[in-house]
Amino acid sequence: MIEETFVMIKPDGVRRKLIGEIIKRLEQKLMTIVDIKMEHLEQDKAEKLYEMHKGKDFFDMLVDYTISGPVVLVKIQGEEAVMNCRIVIGETYPEKRKAGSIRGDFSPYLTENIVHAASSKQDAKRELELFF
Ligand SMILES: Nc1ncnc2c1ncn2[C@@H]1O[C@H](COP(=O)(O)OP(=O)(O)OP(=O)(O)O)[C@@H](O)[C@H]1O
Ligand SMILES: [Mg+2]
Repeated sequence: MIEETFVMIKPDGVRRKLIGEIIKRLEQKLMTIVDIKMEHLEQDKAEKLYEMHKGKDFFDMLVDYTISGPVVLVKIQGEEAVMNCRIVIGETYPEKRKAGSIRGDFSPYLTENIVHAASSKQDAKRELELFF
């Protein structure tokens, strides 16, 4: 089923000049970019994006990293877009990442991991409302 999701190219993805590479891989998977913009997030926006992690020991570090430079906010449409964008970006934990995924190919780190994608249809709706 065609649906929409939210993807964000994180500050290290932008710094490392991987915007084109990331968009290419999402389009290769037949995901359609329906809206896109660059923003340097305010702290409260980053905290809202990651509100499900509030209270965890890595929360402050995660928010500091997310606001450390401009990010690219992307609205995507495609077949099972939530699931398929997660496949393209790769796993959360470095030891589980497969070569061929964005994180698997470009990041050895847990925190600095290039790209975010919404984890569920519910998160996708909430995150799109936050940014678009
Ligand atoms: N145990 C941890 N220690 C430090 N940082 C963590 C830990 N778990 C997650 N993170 C960081 O918090 C972010 C959000 O965690 P989450 O569990 O939502 O992973 P994710 O869904 O793969 O990442 P994202 O939401 O950014 O797409 C991760 O991308 C990672 O940068
Ligand atoms: Mg997540």
